[in-house]
Amino acid sequence: MTDSTKAAPVTIEAEGEVALIRIDNPPVNATSQAVRQALKSSVEQVLADRKARVIVVYCAGRTFVAGADIREFGKPPQEPHLPDVYNVIEQSPVPVVAVMHGTALGGGLELGLASHARVGIEGLRVGLPEVTLGVLPGAGGTQRLPRLTGLKPALDIIVSGRQVAAQEALDLGIIDRLDSGDPREVAVRMAAEVLGGTLPTRRTDQIDLAPDPDLIRAEAERLAKTAPNLFAPHRCVECVEAATRLPMAEGLKFERQKFRDCMDTPQRAGLIHAFFAERAVANVPEKSETPREVTKIGVIGGGTMGSGIATSALLAGLEVTLIEVQQDGLDRGISTITGNIDGAVKRGKLKANKRDQTLGRLTPSLEMESLADADLVIEAVFEDMGVKKDIFGKLDGICKQGAVLASNTSYLDVNEIAQATSRPEDVLGLHFFSPAHVMRLLEVVVADKTAPEVVATGFALGKKLKKVAVRAGVCDGFIGNRILAHYRKSADYMMLDGASPQQIDAALEEFGFAMGPFKVGDLAGLDIGWASRKRKAPTRPAEERYVEVSDRVCEQGWYGRKTGKGFYVYEVKEISPNPEVEKFIEAEREEKGITPRSFTDQEIIDRYMTAMIAEATRVVEDGTALRPVDVDAVFLFGYGFPRFRGGPLHYADRIGAAELVKRIETYAQEDAHYWQVPELLRQMAQDGRTFDDLNKER
Ligand code: 3HC
Repeated sequence: MTDSTKAAPVTIEAEGEVALIRIDNPPVNATSQAVRQALKSSVEQVLADRKARVIVVYCAGRTFVAGADIREFGKPPQEPHLPDVYNVIEQSPVPVVAVMHGTALGGGLELGLASHARVGIEGLRVGLPEVTLGVLPGAGGTQRLPRLTGLKPALDIIVSGRQVAAQEALDLGIIDRLDSGDPREVAVRMAAEVLGGTLPTRRTDQIDLAPDPDLIRAEAERLAKTAPNLFAPHRCVECVEAATRLPMAEGLKFERQKFRDCMDTPQRAGLIHAFFAERAVANVPEKSETPREVTKIGVIGGGTMGSGIATSALLAGLEVTLIEVQQDGLDRGISTITGNIDGAVKRGKLKANKRDQTLGRLTPSLEMESLADADLVIEAVFEDMGVKKDIFGKLDGICKQGAVLASNTSYLDVNEIAQATSRPEDVLGLHFFSPAHVMRLLEVVVADKTAPEVVATGFALGKKLKKVAVRAGVCDGFIGNRILAHYRKSADYMMLDGASPQQIDAALEEFGFAMGPFKVGDLAGLDIGWASRKRKAPTRPAEERYVEVSDRVCEQGWYGRKTGKGFYVYEVKEISPNPEVEKFIEAEREEKGITPRSFTDQEIIDRYMTAMIAEATRVVEDGTALRPVDVDAVFLFGYGFPRFRGGPLHYADRIGAAELVKRIETYAQEDAHYWQVPELLRQMAQDGRTFDDLNKER
């Protein structure tokens, strides 16, 4: 074949009756403006040449087109628009075949759907994940997929945004053929098949689609219950419904309008920020360091945390030695891990035939000496500095040179822990979140002397465990728990001043949190916060306002869900407010001379979020977090922050620094100690800067 025309990043290779069009836009062949332009003109040029009797589109690199270029979202759209490019393809008088490998997602799959036949290469995954980014398939996906698969599977794929494996895609009629080999080779072969009549082609817009109003209504009703806060999923259903009654051209117009509506929402901006936040946190000063090799890890402590960490490591293929001091503790750890692994099989995270092999990588032991050949050890015992220092002193004598020594402490000083060893450069914090085999956040806590390659090893381990690793500095609570300890108080203050725990929970659930703070406390165990308050009591500043209601609750032995009572009462299937709590609140109000006032739900949200943002700003200001986006990632992946709001500091930009300063100053009239304006926020307000600006600068 001869190379006739090059229109980077799209190349045409034409010979005789065959034109191969190759897209090459690393890393994921996203349809940037340049790709759209070049793809459209390439197809038009092949058609104008009038020689080709078949066109095959394939991609270079690791994947077929993985979607529209989402970095362009939110900027003024530039022509040609993707639906117009795909219309040229669908209406081409010369059949177009898409040969897809890797992940054909969003605009990538839509390119396939507009083609006249689709061939998948083994390992292909397809999907329309737009809804997870706050938009909907806007280049024909909602109109063409239902025509190929029927309404039900299309609705499921579009509304869930899930990825579909190659065989299922074949079974559903999304692809016509599953092949193997290099994309170009397959493209050449498929061109020959089309010419030889063995690979049929057809236009998707000419396929009829039967309406099913009951199915559409049921899906709309389901979403009204399960996703009342979200904008895009509902619009997806409207578009699929439109596909059942409108001709293609009108359906595409309808879809385009809904796509634009989604594009204009803050939810779209929040969800795309969350997508990039997950990736941005890997950009740390130590990223070019070579991590140490880690295949064998040790976990000290078989409690919930230690067992969760061990489970996560086993699932990632690592060998794990679990250490406990007593046989019964070890047995409990083994049983928790076994339960976790069985749960992973049940949830489809692990193949049933891999269960025994996975558990076979676990070595339980009562001897710390068993950690002599571990590459990395994670200590996950209870939060007591004396105990931790003792363990690290022992590890120093036992572990091989070069082993990484990590503590899973939630708030203790990692510098002090490191001093218990003769090798502080090998020590860091690896703070997991419970349940550790499920929650994606991992705070990598960097102490003063931690070696850069040890930090890199923490990040490499995070990646292996499929965690979102975020770099944090040493302070009480690191990024997440430090911010939580601050804003959680605002809920207690509002409770004492007149809002009920139920109103506060409901307002914040309406905002998008899966659970309000009092329900979270009940779930996590109120004794945890109680212990932390007692620990901090001696150093609590005299000016700090202190609410005693939680202490009163704990004094009754009511630690929340696990004891059947906390701020709520838990019966078999019911949860109701604990009436005793109201009495504690009233008694404390009376003692402190507080006359309760009413709060609107919006005021609750504003105060809670402003408190969170204020402490988050201080965490950025003093360098505990590298950038605002790191704080956002911590809250998105570890604290149930509503993803569609993008994280606390992305949300802060929607409010604006000037307004936040104004709010804090207003609240400070009641409590000047708690409500202090962070210097950084004041500066930002003065300079008109945003947290997003800081993300770009740092
Ligand atoms: N646009 C722009 N950049 C993208 C992108 C996209 N659609 N998808 C991925 N990237 C970037 C990532 O940010 C990352 O950049 P970095 O190296 O600078 O951090 C790089 O490509 C590689 O991505 P990953 O690190 O995620 O690589 P993986 O191999 O782990 O995953 C993937 C690859 C499965 C393709 C994953 O990146 C992904 O899921 N991407 C998003 C796919 C998607 O949502 N597509 C739909 C877009 S919306 C759309 O198409 C609208 C249309 O209907 C009109």
